[in-house]
Amino acid sequence: MKYALVTGASGGIGKEFAIKLAAEGWAIILVGRNEARLEAVRASLSGANASASVAIPCDLSQPGAAGRLYRACAERGLAVDLLVNNAGSGVFGDSLSQSPEAVEAMVNLNVSALTNLCALFGRDMKARGSGRVLNVGSFAGLNATPYFASYAATKSYVLDYTLALRAELAGSGVVVTCLLPGYVRTDFDDNAGIESDAYKKFSRSNSLSAEQVADIGLAALERGKAWTIAGARNKLAAFLFGLLPRTAPPAIMKLFLDRLV
Ligand SMILES: NC(=O)c1ccc[n+]([C@@H]2O[C@H](COP(=O)([O-])OP(=O)(O)OC[C@H]3O[C@@H](n4cnc5c(N)ncnc54)[C@H](OP(=O)(O)O)[C@@H]3O)[C@@H](O)[C@H]2O)c1
Repeated sequence: MKYALVTGASGGIGKEFAIKLAAEGWAIILVGRNEARLEAVRASLSGANASASVAIPCDLSQPGAAGRLYRACAERGLAVDLLVNNAGSGVFGDSLSQSPEAVEAMVNLNVSALTNLCALFGRDMKARGSGRVLNVGSFAGLNATPYFASYAATKSYVLDYTLALRAELAGSGVVVTCLLPGYVRTDFDDNAGIESDAYKKFSRSNSLSAEQVADIGLAALERGKAWTIAGARNKLAAFLFGLLPRTAPPAIMKLFLDRLV
């Protein structure tokens, strides 16, 4: 039986990954902080091997969390054939006023945990000569983003790290893919501390559903793509921003966001 480990499987995009992968026949290792929500998702899974799925509560923003999660899987005898590094958090607002604790937790989760989970599970995949990793970055990681400055920088890291790791693993049987969603209808904005109704209205009206984004990520994974931007509008925006000098997109976004926040 093949196991897929999905971080952030208690809600949002991660829950959709878990549901879809279970339907494809994977047994799922569901990871997140909220045990009750993880168990509720686990109980709702259907598929040939869904009943072998397990929930492992883990706060991945804590130092050493990736190692503890890896050992928890090893102790249960669970070999991970697909790692979906989906869990992530954002901290929105004026960069100089953000809570240092919240920023540290975000960097630990978005950068350190993702990196160490790739290394720990990736090593085993390489030894077996097969495996898949899907890292969830963000459209925001393509350009410096005012008011999401540190969040966007963590997602820029996710893309660069993924592409470098993918190159290192070329020919090993392990394929690494990065998914870059734009706005998605989940609890992300609220969890990031966004209060502006105008911003939320804009993001909602330009968003994809979590289900659509999970489908796009899994299709990219299936095709062994290096990376994919979710949604035609986001692809076009990325192309147009890419034509500009690197200082232009943050300046344009600042002007735009100042009208929303
Ligand atoms: N929504 C968007 O607009 C958007 C856009 C671009 C990229 N993304 C990326 O997509 C991914 C999923 O986001 P989402 O929209 O589904 O957000 P979400 O609705 O806020 O869900 C986040 C998930 O991550 C888990 N999580 C948060 N902190 C955690 C921690 N410290 N340890 C372990 N798990 C943790 C949460 O579960 P618990 O609360 O149970 O821990 C939850 O399952 C993230 O990497 C995000 O950066 C989202």
